[in-house]
Amino acid sequence: MYGIIATWRMALKGISQADALLKKNGNAKVAIETVIKAVEDFEFYKSVGYGGLPNEDMEVELDAAFMDGDTLDVGCVGAIKDYANPVSIARKLSTYPVNNFLVGQGAEKFAHRHGFERKNMLTERAKIHYHNRIVETTENSELKPYSGHDTVGMVCLDSFGSMTSATSTSGLFMKHPGRVGDSPVSGSGFYVDSKVGGASATGLGEDVMKGCVSYEIVRLMKEGMHPQLACEKAVKDFDTELRQRRGKAGDMSLIAMNNKGEWGCATNIEGFSFAVCTEKEKPTVYLVKFDEKGKQYFEPASKEWMDHYMASRTAPLIRK
Ligand code: GLY
Repeated sequence: MYGIIATWRMALKGISQADALLKKNGNAKVAIETVIKAVEDFEFYKSVGYGGLPNEDMEVELDAAFMDGDTLDVGCVGAIKDYANPVSIARKLSTYPVNNFLVGQGAEKFAHRHGFERKNMLTERAKIHYHNRIVETTENSELKPYSGHDTVGMVCLDSFGSMTSATSTSGLFMKHPGRVGDSPVSGSGFYVDSKVGGASATGLGEDVMKGCVSYEIVRLMKEGMHPQLACEKAVKDFDTELRQRRGKAGDMSLIAMNNKGEWGCATNIEGFSFAVCTEKEKPTVYLVKFDEKGKQYFEPASKEWMDHYMASRTAPLIRK
């Protein structure tokens, strides 16, 4: 059995590429890096890689991680600038015995030394978003860094039973320079153990990190829980905990897959989507919805929804 699951609809194209690789006995490391790179390279996704939205100094700082579920090797980069594919740098870092999590100039120096592609990641479109946000903020005098943000996070299982997890993000729009979220933090943005399964998060990093939610899901799966139940329990329990203790909980959406290719997803927000494929299921985008009792359910995204999604992502942007 093989499979791959990812946060958000933006992973669909890459997931289809991974499907083709995994079908031909491709390995989970190559497959997951391929998918994340496809998202990083697509300039119209404004929260990952090229075209990602900048920090308050109008600089694109990227976070990414890679984990090998066989060896538990982890590689991470935080606040890295001017490199095309942070996930590949994270994968390379995961192969070393030490110095696995590098940030800022240290990460850039490592990437340079190993010949990774340099690229100015700030697009003209991202500059317009930045400019418009400044105008809106002046008009409404409220800066909300979270809106418009979606991290790509994935878990992959290959037909040899090896699993990987990886993430990539530009983090919060208008974040402080140097801010690093949950995405490159093991146990928070991602975790995978080939003996059990893996999980990955998107949402408000500051809150996801308070609960190490990805690790919690893997822990629940290790106790025998199905990925769906593990995701629902971890997200609901931690959302409740945050609301009780702090009066509010940030956005939190998690996906998971176990080493049998069974998968799950849970969220505390409306409008979350994810993409999945397994040996038995073709690449599919699901939308997460809630019934009148607040119970979560999934629906495959309609063609209209898919068309609207891409049209809205690529629509011309007007400078205010
Ligand atoms: N979840 C990504 C971030 O908070 O940066």
